[in-house]
Amino acid sequence: MSVIAKLSDVSVKRGTTSILRDLNWQIRANERWAVLGPNGAGKTTLLHLLSGYIFPASGSVEVLDELFGSSDITELRARIGLATPNMLNRIGLDETVHDAVISAAHGVTGIGFEPYLGVDETRAGKLMAEWNLLQLSDKRISEISDGERKRLLIARALMPNPELLLLDEPTAALDLGSREHLLQILQRLCLEPNSPSMVIVTHHVEEIPSGITHVLLMRDGKSIASGPIDQVISSVTLSATYGVPVNVHQNDGRWFAVARVK
Ligand SMILES: Nc1ncnc2c1ncn2[C@@H]1O[C@H](COP(=O)(O)OP(=O)(O)OP(=O)(O)O)[C@@H](O)[C@H]1O
Ligand SMILES: [Mg+2]
Repeated sequence: MSVIAKLSDVSVKRGTTSILRDLNWQIRANERWAVLGPNGAGKTTLLHLLSGYIFPASGSVEVLDELFGSSDITELRARIGLATPNMLNRIGLDETVHDAVISAAHGVTGIGFEPYLGVDETRAGKLMAEWNLLQLSDKRISEISDGERKRLLIARALMPNPELLLLDEPTAALDLGSREHLLQILQRLCLEPNSPSMVIVTHHVEEIPSGITHVLLMRDGKSIASGPIDQVISSVTLSATYGVPVNVHQNDGRWFAVARVK
């Protein structure tokens, strides 16, 4: 599969308001994307669209070789790992870390009567070890920190071994140390030979892990620029995206931006 996702002239509406407009975007195999844009730009909507939770008002969406409208979306959803903060509400704060991770094997949000096999336990254990959650395994979500919740959501999204991983602001609201730690694990994941294709939504260029290859900049539901990260991120494009003058520089594979607001 050389094309992971293809959006052609896509618009998404809520009532009479267009929240995504005339979007053309393609994710190819071996590309890992970051999506940036101001509040309300349509970033989360885009992730919900890619994961089959909403449908376009016009245009076509093809993800993992399945064309929306002509394939079984439930099966497609099982091939996509989605980590968004509102997932915690669906899982429920009483769920334990272990159960929240392993239940993703069946696409459910808590343990019920589904059969869990040794292979599921092994994978959940491996993911909890990788995402530093083993010592929290029996704790309820209500008892763990925001940073730990972020790691839990990603481990859960990876549980079904997805072909496409979608992360919505994975490092938002983390302290500096926790943010850098999470970025390091994300970077490792990006560089693993069999890692899934990835789309990471973030507000800050500083929160783009090394290993991200491409960037989509959005504003008002539209694409401002998209393509290889070195070609797309610049003071000019970020200023147009955020609507304020921005100075950007790069250091040691990471990006840094300062907005100049009077
Ligand atoms: N269910 C909905 N009904 C009506 N409007 C919606 C709905 N969901 C999103 N919107 C609107 O669509 C626009 C895009 O929302 P979205 O959540 O995708 O933005 P975002 O780029 O993720 O913003 P943020 O950075 O604040 O998370 C916003 O103006 C929002 O108010
Ligand atoms: Mg959002």
